[in-house]
Amino acid sequence: FSQQYEEKIRPCIDTIDSLRSLGVEKDLALPAIAVIGDQSSGKSSILEALSGVALPRGSGIVTRCPLELKMIRTKGEDKWHARISYQNYEEDIDDPAEVENKIWEAQDKMAGEGVGISEELISLQIHSANVPDLTLIDLPGIARVAVNGQPDDIAETIKTLIRKFVTKQETINLVVVPCNVDIATIEALQMAQEEDPEGERTLGILTKPDLVDKGTEGTVVDIVHNEVIHLTKGYMIVRCRGQQDIVDQVTLNEATATENAFFKNHPHFSKLYEEGFATIPKLAEKLTIQLVHHIQKSLPCLEEQIQTKLAETQTELEKYCNGPPLDPAERRTFLSDKLTDFTDDALKLTTGEALKCAL
Ligand code: GDP
Ligand code: NA
Ligand code: MG
Repeated sequence: FSQQYEEKIRPCIDTIDSLRSLGVEKDLALPAIAVIGDQSSGKSSILEALSGVALPRGSGIVTRCPLELKMIRTKGEDKWHARISYQNYEEDIDDPAEVENKIWEAQDKMAGEGVGISEELISLQIHSANVPDLTLIDLPGIARVAVNGQPDDIAETIKTLIRKFVTKQETINLVVVPCNVDIATIEALQMAQEEDPEGERTLGILTKPDLVDKGTEGTVVDIVHNEVIHLTKGYMIVRCRGQQDIVDQVTLNEATATENAFFKNHPHFSKLYEEGFATIPKLAEKLTIQLVHHIQKSLPCLEEQIQTKLAETQTELEKYCNGPPLDPAERRTFLSDKLTDFTDDALKLTTGEALKCAL
């Protein structure tokens, strides 16, 4: 994968990055990956495992604002650094251990302290040699009931917010489903299916395989094999840190090793491991490839939009001819012509012909 990454994938991502740095994103839509699912299904845990940075997560409503995680893979020995931005605020972060607190702080400022949510985006850019080049969006989870201090319509508010992200054609939707709940009841999957009936932009992620109900492992294998609710992009299965792991201060690196051993030795899931459907590193690989396919598909459309802009700019440029001529005598006529044009335009303005002129 590493060689394929350097030869094929990296150049494609570099192209998109240079388009981004030219400010193209303001005019053209570039793809991103949104993570959706029920509250506490493991969304933030997946993002934290993919990014290598601890994020706010736990039971109850923890993610209260959309969080855009823009990971930028730097080459060689470049130092880790990050930048958090929201509303009119920006701050550099030099220590990965500070990220979590900065996000808590940002959420409190945007959504108030407590259990409220906000539509305002928090953006976190991470530059590191150890992250995949991906832009991921973490969203508040779907709550089934309002808790103390939340308005009664909180579930609807959250669903409206999620819908805003999943309807975008350039977004890949990761639907997170815990292994210990019935997949048919997953509202996020129904929402993704409504917006993306063929499942072309939707990838299912099964979480918490260590908590699977004994006797239902076969169903989980069938789901991952895409035999239950079919998605064109299919499914992956991952294991992240549980609450006890966090209490025990298991590091993300240790968690990766544990995850690998878990799948490799599992009586039912080792098959999925061998087939390449399991673990966070495999997910990162799959997402990167998906993103590149998505970019390749959007490139013709990007090109078309760039050609249109170019043609517009060229027409405008032609209006100014090639600038003043070199010969001093010709310069004089050029200047007087320009002055005449200018007074003509000024006159047209007063006679209401300006619009015709501009068209
Ligand atoms: P979110 O609300 O969807 O963002 O979910 P979180 O990522 O905050 O996770 C909710 C809880 O599930 C946390 O306590 C996690 O530690 C725990 N969790 C996440 N993934 C796993 C997993 O694979 N196994 C176990 N046992 N617990 C997990
Ligand atoms: Na949670
Ligand atoms: Mg979360």
